[in-house]
Amino acid sequence: MEVVTKIAQLKSIVERVKGEGKTIGLVPTMGYLHEGHLTLAKAARVENDLVIMSIFVNPTQFGPNEDFQSYPRDLERDKRLAKSAGVHVIFAPSVEEMYPSDGGISIHAGRQSEILCGASRPGHFNGVLQVVTKLFHLAEPDRAYFGQKDAQQVAIVQTLVRDYNFPLEIRTVPIVREEDGLAKSSRNVYLSKREREEAPAIYEALQIAKETFLSSRDVKNALNEATTHMMRKTSGTIDYLELLSYPDLQPVNEDTKEFLLATAVYIGKTRLIDNIIFSIK
Ligand code: PAJ
Repeated sequence: MEVVTKIAQLKSIVERVKGEGKTIGLVPTMGYLHEGHLTLAKAARVENDLVIMSIFVNPTQFGPNEDFQSYPRDLERDKRLAKSAGVHVIFAPSVEEMYPSDGGISIHAGRQSEILCGASRPGHFNGVLQVVTKLFHLAEPDRAYFGQKDAQQVAIVQTLVRDYNFPLEIRTVPIVREEDGLAKSSRNVYLSKREREEAPAIYEALQIAKETFLSSRDVKNALNEATTHMMRKTSGTIDYLELLSYPDLQPVNEDTKEFLLATAVYIGKTRLIDNIIFSIK
């Protein structure tokens, strides 16, 4: 496995591999890898000749009062884990390498970014699209891998690829969870012992909402049941809890067949997100 930090190094690998007619799978991450990231890498390994994983804590997707500085970083550990998952190349640039100048040009995520995480994290998805666009240009992947853990991110990146004709396919993997149901996240290390014990209630609440909705078809009732569960089982506060159509992220109506049930919850200072995607016949 090669670890490169410079754009020029990455481009020369990409040129060589493309010249040999081989396919490239890209796995964008912010590092501090866990089984969720590794599942993406393993999927990429199965479907492509070369797997490039980017590890870059992207400053432009963090708000001024968010955790950019404290976001967990451990490149040595990440190298071991990435290698074990079959990654061929890690691209771990510095902020200066990725953003040497600010020409004032930004990418504005559209309608899909105005709700859920986009509503509570203004500018977040613009930053995601900025870095993803750069990574797509640099790695020239045939396929890029994203987790359903960030369902809104997937929907928005899919729109970017479709509307701006990126010659690649977005591939997704389901959410990887701890044994007690908590969605794996690099941010789980922020949780105290007590907070960690409360956190599985987030996924429990989503399951309650789903079951209640499937039996009653009543969105309000379903979300109330889930809210009650979270209030009873955690000391957290709910940032949002919503049931929307998927992937267009519109309010549910009688014709909706595919659903996204999504939540963001503050457990102490840690903001955790989770979701369930489900369909009805
Ligand atoms: P990061 O949070 O590091 O996540 C990298 C990828 O791993 C994302 O596609 C995310 O959805 C996926 N992932 C995280 N936890 C997962 C889990 N429990 N199960 C399945 N997949 C999971 O998402 C980002 O980084 C950034 O926004 C990025 C796309 C890299 C742009 O900076």
